[in-house]
Amino acid sequence: MRVLLVAPPGAGKGTQGALIATHFGVRHVATGDLLRDHVARQTPLGLAVKERLDRGELVPDDVVLDMVRDAFQEAKEQGGGYVLDGMPRNMPQARALYQVGLSLDMTADVALHLKADDDELIRRLLARAALEHRSDDSEQVIRRRLALYHEVTHPIVDWYSSRGILVSVDAMRPVAEVARQVLTALEALNSLVDLVPESARRSIDLTGLGAAFGDS
Ligand code: AP5
Repeated sequence: MRVLLVAPPGAGKGTQGALIATHFGVRHVATGDLLRDHVARQTPLGLAVKERLDRGELVPDDVVLDMVRDAFQEAKEQGGGYVLDGMPRNMPQARALYQVGLSLDMTADVALHLKADDDELIRRLLARAALEHRSDDSEQVIRRRLALYHEVTHPIVDWYSSRGILVSVDAMRPVAEVARQVLTALEALNSLVDLVPESARRSIDLTGLGAAFGDS
């Protein structure tokens, strides 16, 4: 199973990405985690990108593309599955990633879109800020990250929809309920991806299915 996560800050990319990766036994590649690891180790790359992370700005496309290409090569050696969390963030990254996927015969089966309201996302990230100390979890930087998501990242959802690989899920509900809906959808698709060519696939919108997945 090869899954991309496209979602705003706080929607649950890291949370759901880890669950999906464990469930399918595939690699979880989280660009934010990889970048924060470089910052923590004070590598040349980490020192170069730290200020951008702190300000909630995107790091240059080439930097993340190189990291993800390396991670995909490792994932290929481990069977070819992955959950990519944090990339693409803009249309050039989406196109470049598609080319990397084509070159390794590892294009995504599913682009998973986690939908949630800004007020809820801000609430979650401020709650996290009280417990952890991520340098970009101040209210001002959270609002900048969200604005950037709406401006440059969200538009790529339509591109995945037109490719027929988009699955949209309501991420406003508790973690376990979101996970149940996500894993149910991915399990169903997993049995089809090798049978149905990409050109014949259709996007799936599950955001109205709350009652079937635990809403009262
Ligand atoms: P990144 O690490 O990707 O951060 P982000 O997109 O801002 O997302 P978060 O990690 O804050 O949230 P999430 O959606 O993963 O949610 P999570 O599961 O953690 O990127 C950080 C920075 O790196 C970027 O700003 C940029 O500078 C750089 N970067 C990364 N990729 C890049 C790229 N491709 N190009 C350029 N720059 C890049 O959950 C958040 C909180 O909510 C947690 O406390 C969690 O417990 C809680 N939670 C999760 N789900 C639920 C739920 N359903 N109900 C209640 N609480 C929940």
